[in-house]
Amino acid sequence: MAKYKIAWMPGDGVGNDVMEAAKIVLDKIKFDAEYIHADIGWEFWKTEANPLPDRTADILNSTDAALFGAITSMPKEECEKELIPELQGKGYVYSSPIVRLRQEFNLRTNLRPCRAYAGNPLNYKDEIDLVVFRENTEDLYVGIEFHPLPDEVRNTIKAHNPKMGRFDNTPGEDIAVSLRVNTRNGCRNIITDAFEYAKKFNRPSVTVVEKPNVVRETSGLMVRTAREVAKNYPGIELWETNIDAMCMWLVKNPMDYSVLVTSNMFGDIVSDLCAQLVGGLGFAASGNIGDNYAVFEPTHGSAPKYAGKYKVNPMAMLLTTKMMFDYLGETEKANNLENAIAEVIKEGKVRTYDMGGTNTTLEIGEAVAAKL
Ligand code: IPM
Ligand code: MG
Repeated sequence: MAKYKIAWMPGDGVGNDVMEAAKIVLDKIKFDAEYIHADIGWEFWKTEANPLPDRTADILNSTDAALFGAITSMPKEECEKELIPELQGKGYVYSSPIVRLRQEFNLRTNLRPCRAYAGNPLNYKDEIDLVVFRENTEDLYVGIEFHPLPDEVRNTIKAHNPKMGRFDNTPGEDIAVSLRVNTRNGCRNIITDAFEYAKKFNRPSVTVVEKPNVVRETSGLMVRTAREVAKNYPGIELWETNIDAMCMWLVKNPMDYSVLVTSNMFGDIVSDLCAQLVGGLGFAASGNIGDNYAVFEPTHGSAPKYAGKYKVNPMAMLLTTKMMFDYLGETEKANNLENAIAEVIKEGKVRTYDMGGTNTTLEIGEAVAAKL
């Protein structure tokens, strides 16, 4: 019997291309695993009105971790049109399967390392080495939204906060409300994870990225919690930066920062910015990590126009695989894989189109495997 069971979820578009590249590397490194294919994505929305079928949840429950390729999402109106005729008009509403996975499996930490590997022509500046800790289950992603705004909800809000009165003359169908819900526990967990990481890897600072001067309660809770948690880590400095200023500083002096910690929506935004500093989404790996399970996915989307063309850069997927090794405690494999990736980047002989080369997705996988 294999040592590990891994759920294998290519998902949509180029998800399959990049996961094939990962498989080349996994085989070469002799990772002792059984891979169990799990259905997820647009195909299952169209045919079953559920992009995350129950059978997939069962597979996740019976495996050690999951590797996930990419997902296609579309705005609300377009989703309904894509359903097979038998399923149309039945009131099915699309919700992103990755967001569901994060919430239903309580994968509360989204870890997104962004390192400028030497020799990458796409690096914004060399020596950037950032890690983003993004809270992964709360905040604006809770999906509690109203449009039109029911009178009952409006009146309840107004009873608790007179500022709602400003909208008295706006009809409910002209108001949309999305709730930002953050808990003390959620804040404490993500901030503790960030500090624990800083401690383990000798990082000098943790920067909490929020907007407490305006969003006083939710961002305020994050910052106040960060101050409390920081007391347990005397050697590590806590910096507090507003999200807007952070975007500016990251473009100006990205090397000044080390570990960033933030809430779900700000983390979504700032992690794309950080990805671009180190070569773009072709290099952005991520882990959705909970107490009992983790799903590893490159940050990029499904790029449908490139699906099956083996054109896109699989480095993000390979770095994601490295993160899975770390999670499973396979530290030697993680380090070997990262070194192999770094070497291929440094040599610059095998490159996909985004790096100015002509190699295919699978050739990158083979080049990395050859270094192992
Ligand atoms: C990400 C993506 C997702 C998110 C989308 C696909 C729902 O942008 O992982 O950053 O918003 O979290
Ligand atoms: Mg995103």
